[in-house]
Amino acid sequence: MTLPFAPAPFPLARPRRLRSSPWVRRLVAEIALTPADLIWPLIVHDGADDRVAVPSMPGVFRLSPREAAKAAVEARDLGIPAVALFPNIDGAIKDAVGTGATDPDGLIPDCIKAIKDAAPEIGVICDVALDCYTDHGHDGVVEDGRVLNDASLERLAEQAFIQAHAGADVVAPSDMMDGRVQAIREALEANGFHDTLILSYAAKYASAFYGPYRDAVGSAAMLVGDKKTYQMDHANSDEALREVAMDIAEGADMVMVKPGMPYLDIVQRVSETFKVPTFAYQVSGEYAMIQAAVAHGWLDQDRAILETLTGFKRAGCAGVLTYFAPRAARLLGA
Ligand code: PBG
Repeated sequence: MTLPFAPAPFPLARPRRLRSSPWVRRLVAEIALTPADLIWPLIVHDGADDRVAVPSMPGVFRLSPREAAKAAVEARDLGIPAVALFPNIDGAIKDAVGTGATDPDGLIPDCIKAIKDAAPEIGVICDVALDCYTDHGHDGVVEDGRVLNDASLERLAEQAFIQAHAGADVVAPSDMMDGRVQAIREALEANGFHDTLILSYAAKYASAFYGPYRDAVGSAAMLVGDKKTYQMDHANSDEALREVAMDIAEGADMVMVKPGMPYLDIVQRVSETFKVPTFAYQVSGEYAMIQAAVAHGWLDQDRAILETLTGFKRAGCAGVLTYFAPRAARLLGA
Protein backbone atom coordinates (compact mmCIF):
# COMPACT_ATOMS: atom_id res chain seq x y z
CA MET A 1 0.00 0.00 0.00
CA THR A 2 1.32 3.45 -0.81
CA LEU A 3 0.79 6.21 1.73
CA PRO A 4 -1.30 9.24 0.56
CA PHE A 5 1.57 11.55 1.61
CA ALA A 6 5.29 11.41 1.47
CA PRO A 7 6.58 10.77 5.02
CA ALA A 8 9.15 13.26 6.13
CA PRO A 9 12.61 11.81 5.79
CA PHE A 10 13.28 12.95 9.34
CA PRO A 11 11.47 12.79 12.71
CA LEU A 12 9.76 16.01 13.79
CA ALA A 13 9.76 15.15 17.46
CA ARG A 14 13.29 14.53 18.66
CA PRO A 15 13.68 13.87 22.42
CA ARG A 16 17.43 13.98 21.84
CA ARG A 17 17.27 17.78 21.40
CA LEU A 18 16.79 18.07 25.15
CA ARG A 19 19.88 15.95 25.71
CA SER A 20 22.12 17.62 23.18
CA SER A 21 24.35 19.59 25.53
CA PRO A 22 25.15 19.81 29.22
CA TRP A 23 23.39 23.16 29.77
CA VAL A 24 20.05 21.95 28.46
CA ARG A 25 20.32 18.66 30.30
CA ARG A 26 20.87 20.61 33.49
CA LEU A 27 18.03 22.98 32.65
CA VAL A 28 15.41 20.28 32.20
CA ALA A 29 16.55 17.87 34.93
CA GLU A 30 13.51 16.86 36.97
CA ILE A 31 15.37 15.79 40.09
CA ALA A 32 18.19 17.53 41.94
CA LEU A 33 20.08 15.47 44.48
CA THR A 34 21.81 17.58 47.14
CA PRO A 35 23.78 16.85 50.33
CA ALA A 36 20.62 17.83 52.24
CA ASP A 37 19.05 14.59 51.01
CA LEU A 38 21.59 12.39 52.77
CA ILE A 39 21.68 10.65 56.13
CA TRP A 40 25.01 9.06 57.05
CA PRO A 41 24.74 5.80 59.04
CA LEU A 42 27.64 5.42 61.48
CA ILE A 43 28.61 2.11 63.08
CA VAL A 44 29.93 2.86 66.56
CA HIS A 45 31.72 0.58 68.98
CA ASP A 46 32.96 0.40 72.53
CA GLY A 47 36.26 -1.31 71.72
CA ALA A 48 39.73 0.03 72.44
CA ASP A 49 40.60 1.20 68.92
CA ASP A 50 39.34 4.39 67.38
CA ARG A 51 38.62 3.01 63.91
CA VAL A 52 38.18 -0.63 62.94
CA ALA A 53 37.62 -1.57 59.29
CA VAL A 54 34.52 -3.63 58.47
CA PRO A 55 35.76 -6.27 56.00
CA SER A 56 32.43 -6.81 54.24
CA MET A 57 31.93 -3.05 53.81
CA PRO A 58 35.13 -1.65 52.25
CA GLY A 59 35.49 2.00 53.23
CA VAL A 60 33.30 1.68 56.34
CA PHE A 61 34.80 1.71 59.84
CA ARG A 62 33.47 1.02 63.29
CA LEU A 63 34.02 4.27 65.18
CA SER A 64 34.69 5.09 68.80
CA PRO A 65 32.52 7.87 70.29
CA ARG A 66 35.41 10.30 69.68
CA GLU A 67 35.65 9.30 66.01
CA ALA A 68 31.86 9.46 65.67
CA ALA A 69 32.03 13.07 66.85
CA LYS A 70 34.66 13.78 64.17
CA ALA A 71 32.42 12.18 61.57
CA ALA A 72 29.56 14.40 62.70
CA VAL A 73 31.74 17.48 62.19
CA GLU A 74 32.64 16.19 58.73
CA ALA A 75 28.95 15.63 57.98
CA ARG A 76 28.09 19.15 59.09
CA ASP A 77 30.85 20.65 56.97
CA LEU A 78 29.59 18.68 53.97
CA GLY A 79 26.00 19.88 54.41
CA ILE A 80 24.69 16.45 55.46
CA PRO A 81 21.81 17.14 57.88
CA ALA A 82 21.91 14.02 60.04
CA VAL A 83 23.77 10.90 61.10
CA ALA A 84 22.19 7.61 62.20
CA LEU A 85 23.90 5.55 64.90
CA PHE A 86 24.21 1.75 65.04
CA PRO A 87 26.12 0.08 67.87
CA ASN A 88 28.61 -2.76 67.87
CA ILE A 89 28.44 -3.91 71.47
CA ASP A 90 30.95 -6.08 73.32
CA GLY A 91 29.59 -9.65 73.19
CA ALA A 92 30.25 -10.06 76.91
CA ILE A 93 27.42 -7.67 77.81
CA LYS A 94 24.82 -9.16 75.47
CA ASP A 95 21.97 -11.06 77.13
CA ALA A 96 18.50 -12.43 76.41
CA VAL A 97 16.60 -9.18 77.02
CA GLY A 98 19.21 -6.76 75.68
CA THR A 99 19.96 -5.03 78.98
CA GLY A 100 22.57 -2.82 77.31
CA ALA A 101 19.90 -1.17 75.16
CA THR A 102 18.52 0.68 78.17
CA ASP A 103 21.79 1.59 79.87
CA PRO A 104 21.74 5.38 80.23
CA ASP A 105 25.55 5.33 80.34
CA GLY A 106 25.89 2.96 77.39
CA LEU A 107 27.65 3.39 74.07
CA ILE A 108 24.79 5.14 72.24
CA PRO A 109 24.17 7.78 74.94
CA ASP A 110 27.97 8.38 74.99
CA CYS A 111 28.03 8.86 71.24
CA ILE A 112 25.00 11.15 71.23
CA LYS A 113 26.65 13.39 73.81
CA ALA A 114 30.02 13.40 72.02
CA ILE A 115 28.33 14.31 68.74
CA LYS A 116 26.15 17.02 70.29
CA ASP A 117 29.24 18.57 71.91
CA ALA A 118 31.19 18.60 68.65
CA ALA A 119 28.48 19.43 66.12
CA PRO A 120 25.24 20.51 67.79
CA GLU A 121 23.75 21.45 64.40
CA ILE A 122 23.67 17.83 63.27
CA GLY A 123 20.52 15.74 63.68
CA VAL A 124 21.15 12.52 65.58
CA ILE A 125 19.02 9.52 64.68
CA CYS A 126 19.08 6.41 66.86
CA ASP A 127 18.02 2.90 65.96
CA VAL A 128 15.45 1.43 68.33
CA ALA A 129 15.80 -2.38 68.35
CA LEU A 130 17.36 -4.91 70.65
CA ASP A 131 19.33 -7.01 68.15
CA CYS A 132 22.67 -5.31 68.78
CA TYR A 133 22.31 -6.04 72.51
CA THR A 134 20.85 -9.56 72.63
CA ASP A 135 22.68 -12.87 72.72
CA HIS A 136 20.18 -14.33 70.22
CA GLY A 137 20.43 -11.47 67.73
CA HIS A 138 16.69 -10.77 67.57
CA ASP A 139 15.16 -7.31 67.69
CA GLY A 140 12.80 -8.20 70.52
CA VAL A 141 12.59 -10.35 73.62
CA VAL A 142 12.72 -14.11 72.98
CA GLU A 143 11.00 -16.80 75.01
CA ASP A 144 10.90 -20.49 74.08
CA GLY A 145 12.28 -19.64 70.66
CA ARG A 146 9.54 -17.10 69.89
CA VAL A 147 10.04 -13.37 69.52
CA LEU A 148 7.47 -11.90 71.90
CA ASN A 149 5.67 -8.83 70.65
CA ASP A 150 4.10 -7.16 73.67
CA ALA A 151 6.92 -7.95 76.07
CA SER A 152 9.30 -6.28 73.61
CA LEU A 153 7.31 -3.03 73.47
CA GLU A 154 8.21 -2.03 76.98
CA ARG A 155 11.93 -2.60 76.34
CA LEU A 156 11.80 -0.66 73.08
CA ALA A 157 9.91 2.27 74.63
CA GLU A 158 12.49 2.44 77.40
CA GLN A 159 15.34 2.29 74.88
CA ALA A 160 13.82 5.19 72.92
CA PHE A 161 13.34 7.18 76.12
CA ILE A 162 17.00 6.66 77.07
CA GLN A 163 18.05 7.87 73.63
CA ALA A 164 15.83 10.95 73.77
CA HIS A 165 17.06 11.69 77.25
CA ALA A 166 20.68 11.54 76.04
CA GLY A 167 19.86 14.09 73.35
CA ALA A 168 18.75 12.12 70.29
CA ASP A 169 16.67 14.20 67.90
CA VAL A 170 15.07 11.26 66.15
CA VAL A 171 14.31 7.75 67.34
CA ALA A 172 13.97 5.22 64.57
CA PRO A 173 12.34 1.92 65.51
CA SER A 174 13.66 -0.79 63.20
CA ASP A 175 12.34 -3.76 65.17
CA MET A 176 9.00 -4.31 63.36
CA MET A 177 7.03 -5.24 66.49
CA ASP A 178 3.33 -4.37 66.24
CA GLY A 179 2.40 -1.26 68.20
CA ARG A 180 5.93 -0.08 68.86
CA VAL A 181 5.47 3.39 67.43
CA GLN A 182 2.56 4.02 69.78
CA ALA A 183 4.44 2.61 72.76
CA ILE A 184 7.42 4.85 71.98
CA ARG A 185 5.29 7.92 71.30
CA GLU A 186 3.45 7.50 74.59
CA ALA A 187 6.71 7.12 76.50
CA LEU A 188 8.11 10.25 74.88
CA GLU A 189 5.01 12.36 75.46
CA ALA A 190 4.66 11.19 79.05
CA ASN A 191 8.22 12.30 79.74
CA GLY A 192 8.06 15.71 78.09
CA PHE A 193 9.82 14.79 74.85
CA HIS A 194 7.09 16.33 72.70
CA ASP A 195 9.41 17.31 69.87
CA THR A 196 11.41 14.12 69.53
CA LEU A 197 10.80 12.86 66.02
CA ILE A 198 9.93 9.28 65.19
CA LEU A 199 11.25 7.93 61.91
CA SER A 200 9.71 4.48 61.70
CA TYR A 201 11.17 1.69 59.66
CA ALA A 202 7.59 1.15 58.56
CA ALA A 203 8.13 -1.17 55.63
CA LYS A 204 11.13 -3.22 56.57
CA TYR A 205 11.59 -6.45 54.69
CA ALA A 206 13.30 -9.66 55.77
CA SER A 207 16.28 -9.27 53.47
CA ALA A 208 19.50 -10.91 52.37
CA PHE A 209 20.96 -7.44 52.00
CA TYR A 210 21.51 -6.91 55.75
CA GLY A 211 24.32 -9.46 55.83
CA PRO A 212 27.31 -7.08 55.95
CA TYR A 213 25.61 -4.91 58.59
CA ARG A 214 25.16 -7.89 60.87
CA ASP A 215 28.93 -8.46 60.50
CA ALA A 216 29.55 -4.81 61.25
CA VAL A 217 27.52 -4.75 64.47
CA GLY A 218 28.55 -8.26 65.45
CA SER A 219 25.07 -9.80 65.44
CA ALA A 220 25.55 -12.18 62.47
CA ALA A 221 27.18 -14.93 64.50
CA MET A 222 24.60 -14.48 67.24
CA LEU A 223 21.41 -14.69 65.20
CA VAL A 224 19.32 -17.74 65.95
CA GLY A 225 17.02 -18.51 63.02
CA ASP A 226 15.73 -15.65 60.88
CA LYS A 227 13.57 -12.53 61.27
CA LYS A 228 10.68 -13.61 59.06
CA THR A 229 8.06 -13.59 61.85
CA TYR A 230 8.39 -9.83 62.18
CA GLN A 231 10.11 -8.38 59.10
CA MET A 232 8.00 -8.29 55.93
CA ASP A 233 7.86 -10.85 53.15
CA HIS A 234 9.46 -9.45 50.01
CA ALA A 235 6.48 -10.67 47.95
CA ASN A 236 4.22 -8.01 49.51
CA SER A 237 3.40 -4.46 48.53
CA ASP A 238 -0.15 -3.66 49.80
CA GLU A 239 0.99 -4.81 53.22
CA ALA A 240 3.60 -2.04 53.20
CA LEU A 241 0.82 0.52 52.84
CA ARG A 242 -1.02 -0.97 55.82
CA GLU A 243 2.17 -0.86 57.91
CA VAL A 244 2.81 2.76 56.99
CA ALA A 245 -0.81 3.78 57.71
CA MET A 246 -0.57 2.23 61.17
CA ASP A 247 2.75 3.87 62.00
CA ILE A 248 1.47 7.30 60.97
CA ALA A 249 -1.69 6.79 63.06
CA GLU A 250 0.51 5.78 66.01
CA GLY A 251 2.54 8.96 65.83
CA ALA A 252 5.37 8.49 63.35
CA ASP A 253 6.55 11.75 61.75
CA MET A 254 8.52 10.15 58.94
CA VAL A 255 8.59 6.66 57.48
CA MET A 256 11.23 4.49 55.90
CA VAL A 257 11.37 1.71 53.35
CA LYS A 258 14.21 -0.75 53.73
CA PRO A 259 16.17 -2.09 51.87
CA GLY A 260 16.28 0.51 49.13
CA MET A 261 17.15 -0.44 45.57
CA PRO A 262 15.01 -3.62 45.29
CA TYR A 263 12.04 -1.75 46.82
CA LEU A 264 11.75 1.49 44.84
CA ASP A 265 8.21 0.47 43.85
CA ILE A 266 7.32 0.50 47.55
CA VAL A 267 8.93 3.91 48.02
CA GLN A 268 6.87 5.28 45.16
CA ARG A 269 3.57 3.84 46.43
CA VAL A 270 4.22 5.01 49.99
CA SER A 271 5.25 8.54 49.08
CA GLU A 272 2.37 8.99 46.63
CA THR A 273 -0.23 7.52 48.98
CA PHE A 274 0.66 9.20 52.25
CA LYS A 275 2.54 12.37 51.35
CA VAL A 276 4.65 12.10 54.49
CA PRO A 277 8.45 12.40 54.40
CA THR A 278 9.52 9.02 53.09
CA PHE A 279 13.05 7.74 53.37
CA ALA A 280 14.83 4.71 52.02
CA TYR A 281 17.84 2.92 53.39
CA GLN A 282 20.48 1.89 50.87
CA VAL A 283 21.55 -0.90 53.17
CA SER A 284 24.87 -2.59 53.80
CA GLY A 285 24.38 -5.28 51.15
CA GLU A 286 23.62 -2.69 48.49
CA TYR A 287 26.75 -0.81 49.51
CA ALA A 288 28.84 -3.99 49.52
CA MET A 289 27.49 -5.03 46.13
CA ILE A 290 28.56 -1.76 44.54
CA GLN A 291 31.93 -1.71 46.31
CA ALA A 292 32.70 -5.29 45.28
CA ALA A 293 32.03 -4.50 41.62
CA VAL A 294 34.07 -1.30 41.93
CA ALA A 295 36.98 -3.28 43.41
CA HIS A 296 36.93 -5.52 40.34
CA GLY A 297 36.88 -2.54 38.03
CA TRP A 298 33.40 -3.52 36.82
CA LEU A 299 31.58 -0.38 37.91
CA ASP A 300 32.53 3.28 38.09
CA GLN A 301 32.00 4.07 41.76
CA ASP A 302 31.07 7.70 41.55
CA ARG A 303 28.65 7.27 38.67
CA ALA A 304 27.03 4.30 40.42
CA ILE A 305 26.63 6.31 43.63
CA LEU A 306 24.99 9.29 41.97
CA GLU A 307 22.76 7.17 39.75
CA THR A 308 21.45 5.03 42.61
CA LEU A 309 20.89 7.97 44.94
CA THR A 310 19.13 9.98 42.25
CA GLY A 311 16.90 6.95 41.68
CA PHE A 312 15.73 7.14 45.29
CA LYS A 313 14.79 10.79 44.86
CA ARG A 314 13.03 10.07 41.59
CA ALA A 315 10.96 7.38 43.32
CA GLY A 316 9.76 9.96 45.85
CA CYS A 317 12.24 9.87 48.73
CA ALA A 318 12.71 12.90 50.93
CA GLY A 319 16.14 11.51 51.69
CA VAL A 320 18.33 8.43 51.72
CA LEU A 321 20.34 6.66 54.39
CA THR A 322 23.56 5.67 52.66
CA TYR A 323 27.06 4.68 53.69
CA PHE A 324 28.16 6.65 50.62
CA ALA A 325 26.88 9.90 52.18
CA PRO A 326 30.21 11.75 52.62
CA ARG A 327 31.53 10.68 49.22
CA ALA A 328 28.23 11.59 47.57
CA ALA A 329 28.19 14.99 49.28
CA ARG A 330 31.69 15.68 47.93
CA LEU A 331 30.64 14.62 44.45
CA LEU A 332 27.72 17.00 44.70
CA GLY A 333 30.16 19.82 45.22
CA ALA A 334 29.89 20.29 48.98
C1 PBG B 1 18.22 -4.09 63.01
C2 PBG B 1 18.78 -3.30 61.89
C3 PBG B 1 19.28 -3.88 60.73
C4 PBG B 1 19.76 -2.84 59.95
C5 PBG B 1 19.54 -1.65 60.62
N1 PBG B 1 18.91 -1.95 61.84
C6 PBG B 1 19.45 -5.29 60.32
C7 PBG B 1 18.49 -6.32 60.64
O1 PBG B 1 17.27 -6.09 60.70
O2 PBG B 1 18.95 -7.44 60.84
C8 PBG B 1 20.41 -3.05 58.62
C9 PBG B 1 21.22 -1.97 58.07
C10 PBG B 1 22.05 -2.36 56.90
O3 PBG B 1 22.02 -3.50 56.42
O4 PBG B 1 22.80 -1.49 56.43
N2 PBG B 1 17.52 -3.55 63.97
